Amino acid sequence: MKDFLTINDFTSEELFDFIKLAEEMKNGVYTKKPLADKKVALIFEKSSTRTRVSFEVGVYELGGYPLFLSKDDIQLGRGESIKDTARTLSRYVDGIMLRTFEHYRLEELARCASIPVINGLTDDLHPCQVMADVLTIYEKFGKLKGVKVVFIGDGNNNMAHSWVIGAAKFGMDIAVASPKGYECDEKYLNEARNIASETGSNILQTNDPFVAVKGADVIYTDVWTSMGQESEAVSRKEKFADFQVNRKLMENTGKNTIFMHCLPAHLGEEVTEDVFESEASVVFDEAENRLHIQKAIMAKLIGG
Ligand code: CP
Ligand code: NVA
Repeated sequence: MKDFLTINDFTSEELFDFIKLAEEMKNGVYTKKPLADKKVALIFEKSSTRTRVSFEVGVYELGGYPLFLSKDDIQLGRGESIKDTARTLSRYVDGIMLRTFEHYRLEELARCASIPVINGLTDDLHPCQVMADVLTIYEKFGKLKGVKVVFIGDGNNNMAHSWVIGAAKFGMDIAVASPKGYECDEKYLNEARNIASETGSNILQTNDPFVAVKGADVIYTDVWTSMGQESEAVSRKEKFADFQVNRKLMENTGKNTIFMHCLPAHLGEEVTEDVFESEASVVFDEAENRLHIQKAIMAKLIGG
């Protein structure tokens, strides 16, 4: 029984196996139903479009039965403990996906459940999204090693943290450009640097977006205000104003650069509409790839 709480739960080889299996699922070579007769609980303590639908459809396509459980529908939302929720659900279903706030809630669920637990986003990490993004980059560039990803925006959020770890694991180069005070958490940066010492990735954290984007193959961004930070939205708009992905920034890479975003996007804030709608934008390929990569992850973890 293995969980997927962070990309660092797996070796680089295991991670690449997920990518290869997702490709087989996407191109129709793989037709097995490893979740036949299996049930997967999908718990959401935050909103979702992509994660909810891709997991629900993914379980169905693998032959299983998904249970969508919003916090308002189950006793978790009325204060029942994570521990008891984990032990109860383990008696009914074969796997759990959780989207929640503090990362320790996910770790507690995994510790107390006797079935695999998958991270559907926490305040700290969003590993399924980065796995879908890596699959997308592999499709576009035909390789991962040495591809340079530049993350512009909130370095202290779930996407930036998952990206520094993910890039290091896959031997990609990563630069994060964030306003002062919004750099990546040192804990995740150090974790990524440790991984990079073995894989050869280059990792840079800077406060200058124009320095970061030099030589970028991918420019990536995310919302300035993540779920749960709504009260900070006004002050964040001011602090992040110089960290918008616009045509000028895209043209400063000195390369043909693709644009990526996990979605949902706020056009006119972290990205301009012309970049978002441009030929360089692959945002809906990323959204589609959530389905394929999560099917690969569930097939290996829950399908057995
Ligand atoms: N990218 C992502 O996780 O989207 P949702 O919040 O819609 O699930
Ligand atoms: N950083 C964003 C990602 C949404 C998929 C958030 O947590 O709201």
